[in-house]
Amino acid sequence: MNKTIDFIKETFNTQEFIPLHEPKFLGNEKKYLNDCIDSTYVSSVGKYVDEFEDKLASYVGAKYAVAVSNGTSALHIALKLLDVDDKCEVITQALSFVATVNAISYCNAKVVFIDVSKRTMGLSPKKLLRFLEKHTFMNKNGECINKTSNKVIKACVPMHTFGHPCEIDKIVSICEKFNIAVIEDAAESLGSFYKNKHTGTFGKIGVFSFNGNKIITTGGGGMIVSDDENIAKRAKHLTTTAKIPHKWEYIHDEIGFNYRMPNLNAALGVSQLENLKRFLYKKRELTFKYSQFFKNESIKFVQEPKDAKSNYWLQAIILKNKKQRDEFLEATNENGVMTRPIWKLLNSLDMYRNCQSDSLKNSKWFEKRVVNIPSSVII
Ligand SMILES: Cc1ncc(COP(=O)(O)O)c(C=O)c1O
Repeated sequence: MNKTIDFIKETFNTQEFIPLHEPKFLGNEKKYLNDCIDSTYVSSVGKYVDEFEDKLASYVGAKYAVAVSNGTSALHIALKLLDVDDKCEVITQALSFVATVNAISYCNAKVVFIDVSKRTMGLSPKKLLRFLEKHTFMNKNGECINKTSNKVIKACVPMHTFGHPCEIDKIVSICEKFNIAVIEDAAESLGSFYKNKHTGTFGKIGVFSFNGNKIITTGGGGMIVSDDENIAKRAKHLTTTAKIPHKWEYIHDEIGFNYRMPNLNAALGVSQLENLKRFLYKKRELTFKYSQFFKNESIKFVQEPKDAKSNYWLQAIILKNKKQRDEFLEATNENGVMTRPIWKLLNSLDMYRNCQSDSLKNSKWFEKRVVNIPSSVII
C-alpha cells in the first residue's frame, strides 16, 4: 500500500494533498473571460455560446449542439424531447452517477435497471437484449411494452463509464429493433471514440457535462448534441424559457426551462476546448505510468475496451474484494491521496429501490472492487 501511495506522490511530484481530478487552465481562459466582462455580455446572450456550440459539434462530429447549464439539465431536456413522461419507462444502468436516473425521474418516468458489461463497465448489450426478449412485447402501435408494468419503454440511456466507451453500436441496433430511442449519457466521455466515431453521436441524442471535475470544464455546464435539426431547435427553445422571438413581447408557447449556459461559462469552454487534445495526450501519459506500476503490483488497472479510444477521464483500478478496496480507500485518503469508490448501485438508493432490474451481477461485482485514483492532467 505504501508503495502505491509513494508512487502516486512521486508521479504528481508533490507531498501535498492530491485531489481526484482538478481542472487545468493553461490557455485563453482569462482573456476570454475578460472579453465577456468588457463587452458586458456575461449572461445568457453572447458570442461565446454560439462559438462553443459550433466548436463542440464539429469536434464530436454532430450536426447540432445546444449548450445548457449542466449535464443533468441536458439529460432532462433530452428525455423531454423524446416525450418521456409518467406513462413511460426508461432503461439505464445501475452503475452510474445519480444524475442519470434523477433526470428520468424529473420526467416522472420509471427506471428499469440493466446490468453492465464486464468488458466496458457500461450497459451490456447482451443483458439488454435478454431483458427485452423476455420481459417485453410490441403492441399494435409498434411500442415496446414492459409485460410487468404495462408501460411503454420509450428510451434507453447507456453511459460511457469514466470515459470508457460501452458497446454503443450494438445497443443502438438492439434498441432500434424494439423501437426504443437511445440517449447517450456521454457526460464523462468527451474525447472518447468507439470504432473511430465520437461517443454521444451514436444515439438520437448525446449529452455531455463540463462540471469542474470533467476533462474540460465551463465551471458548470452541459451540451446536447444531435443530428436531428428539429430536436436541436426544440432543445434550444425549451432550454431558453420557450420564448417566441419578438422585439419586445414576452410570449412563451409552452412551459420552458431556464437551462441556458451563460456566456461567461461558454467563454471558459471555448478556451478549454482549445486544450482538449493536450489534455488527452497527458491523460494517456499518466495511464501508461499507472498501467506499468499496477502490473508490477499485480493490481488490475482499467484499460480502454476493444475498438475504443478512451479519454481516460478517471483512472481506475480493480481490487480483489471489498475488504481490500476499503483498506486501499482508508490508507490513501488518510495519506493525502484522494481516491473514491465507484458509485453505490443506483437501485440501492431509497428513491430507486422499487425499480425493476435484472440480476445486476457484473454491476455488483464492480461495486465492491473499483476505485478511482488521482487522474488530473500533469503539466
Ligand atoms: C454519468 C454522468 N451523468 C450525468 C452527470 C451530470 O452532469 P452535471 O454534473 O454537469 O450535471 C455526470 C456528472 O457530473 C455524470 O458523471
